[in-house]
Amino acid sequence: MKIINDIQSLRQQVKEWRLQDLKIAFVPTMGNLHDGHLALVKAAHRHADKVIVSIFINPMQFGLSEDIDNYPKTLEQDKNRLTDVNTDLLFIPTSDIIYPKGYTDNTFVEVPNISDLYCGKSRPGHFRGVATVVCKLFNLVQPDVACFGSKDYQQLQIIQTMVDDLSMPVEIIPVEIIREESGLAMSSRNGYLTSEQRDDAPILYQTLQWLSEQVKTNNDYLQLCQLATDKINQAGLTTDYIDFCHAYTLAPATTDDKELVILASAFCGKARLIDNIQVNL
Ligand code: PAF
Repeated sequence: MKIINDIQSLRQQVKEWRLQDLKIAFVPTMGNLHDGHLALVKAAHRHADKVIVSIFINPMQFGLSEDIDNYPKTLEQDKNRLTDVNTDLLFIPTSDIIYPKGYTDNTFVEVPNISDLYCGKSRPGHFRGVATVVCKLFNLVQPDVACFGSKDYQQLQIIQTMVDDLSMPVEIIPVEIIREESGLAMSSRNGYLTSEQRDDAPILYQTLQWLSEQVKTNNDYLQLCQLATDKINQAGLTTDYIDFCHAYTLAPATTDDKELVILASAFCGKARLIDNIQVNL
């Protein structure tokens, strides 16, 4: 696996692959890689000849109260894991490359409306940071396809909207959620859970599964969300939100919608867990 830190070498390598008519897939990450990330790399291999992964802990997507300094950094382990899944190139840019003027004075990308809902409500500015860094990385890497995990369902829809709205020539590939045996969706945040919290955390997905069954015979979304909130909170978590949404616009679901996604987030100790389940009625 080639490791590159600067734009010129990245562009040179991409140009060489393009001259050979090779298709390029891209997987942006913030490191601390788990099996969910490796599934993205494996999916990327199925869609392209060469796979580029980036590791960049993006300051612009962290809120003032969020501790970026304590974000887990496991670079050596990440490199080994990426080598094991045959990553062709690992791009590790510095902050100066991504935000030459500093991230507060940099041009930004904001996808309106959808960025202010759900996680965006609890984390103002978060999705502006995500859209901006992904746009910048797309411009640097210029991939044919890019893979994103479905666990971050709202992020996925925001990136798809940005790509559509700005006619970016990249195909977004959603990749299925990878779960632990308990059902807990894999996430770097699971590292913050104590062993006791690990026992409690699966209630989030169990409740989503329960909701996806209930909604087949009951379309009172408000009532269902209230019951679900009670279940989650009784298990020791604190629900941030749980909502029935249109699967693509993420607008609150109406009773006419057939393709739904149920989005949920809950605090389990220090960790803010997110999860979702899609439902076709
Ligand atoms: O999902 C993530 O890890 C990040 O939000 C992303 C897409 C790499 C942007 O920093």
